[in-house]
Amino acid sequence: MDTYILGIESSCDETAASVVKNGREVLSNVINTQIDLHKIYGGVVPEIASRKHIENIDTVIDEAMEQAGIGFNDLDAIAVTYGPGLVGALLVGVSSAKALSYALSKPLVPVHHIKGHISANFIAHPDLEPPFVCLVASGGHSHIVHVSDYTKYQVLGRTRDDAAGEAFDKIARVLGLGYPGGPLIDKLAKEGNPEAIKFPRVKMDKDSLDFSFSGVKTAVINYLHKAEQKGEEINKADVAASFQAAVTDALCEHTLEATLNMGSKVVALAGGVASNTDLRQKMADVCGKHGISVVYPPPVLCTDNAAMIASCGYYLFKSGITADLDLNATPSLPLE
Ligand code: KG4
Ligand code: ZN
Repeated sequence: MDTYILGIESSCDETAASVVKNGREVLSNVINTQIDLHKIYGGVVPEIASRKHIENIDTVIDEAMEQAGIGFNDLDAIAVTYGPGLVGALLVGVSSAKALSYALSKPLVPVHHIKGHISANFIAHPDLEPPFVCLVASGGHSHIVHVSDYTKYQVLGRTRDDAAGEAFDKIARVLGLGYPGGPLIDKLAKEGNPEAIKFPRVKMDKDSLDFSFSGVKTAVINYLHKAEQKGEEINKADVAASFQAAVTDALCEHTLEATLNMGSKVVALAGGVASNTDLRQKMADVCGKHGISVVYPPPVLCTDNAAMIASCGYYLFKSGITADLDLNATPSLPLE
């Protein structure tokens, strides 16, 4: 018997719905992004995000069902992101999922956004099975997670301050590149020298796999201020490449250490920053030297989408994990 899950995602600035068959086959993946609306403010404005989710959610769900070519009654369950994220934004998806679950008498499956990001790899790599180590790096999170089973996750390291994507966005802003900054820095860095400026790589303490990106961010800002004060010309491409190298070095080094500690042979990348071309290449190089293979989803499944939520929801549903109709949005939902 095939299992059809409708996934709903509205934790930040993407309103998304998707139907996934048997956890791995995407029948539809509709994403309504609000990036253009938030661009003028240089970041996501929570109130605007909530209002746009309300305007768009019904249409996005209808489109996902239509493209999937199945009816609401063919669904086995409705999976929804209930945290972490912006509370007003999350509430829109959670309310819609609860309404559908009630009206259709179908189970409601509560999905953790980061576990969703990790699950994008199950869609992109049909043969991928736990255990593996996953680096989840997005605008809101930077975690190294050991996935021991489809529903069992252990955090091995996390950022103590800024998320990697957040650092990309801030540096892109000070360089006057625009929002979201990650893809713009990625592109500009290709024209620069990653060794031109030595920005710091922070190691918290000997045994910690945690990250810190606020130091490198401050170092870049100080470098730009000093150059400006001295009236020196700034090579933006060199700054972008050197900053990116500092961030990807830290991400790769800690992920490799975690993977060697766990004796794992596979590393998966997830989250918006997993689209970064330097990170993908560097991770494949450093892990390759130890016989560890590296997998990642295509860019459309790295940034926020609902297919990853439906895939994660499938495995939760199969394990009997469902929620009652009192499910609430949980902005700071912990991962374990
Ligand atoms: O996963 P995502 O869509 O949202 C969150 O859950 O936060 O990630 C968005 C983040 C943004 O910070 C964006 O700048 C970053 O991912 N990003 C990238 C790249 N593409 C997106 N960062 C570095 N390089 C990229 N190519
Ligand atoms: Zn995300």
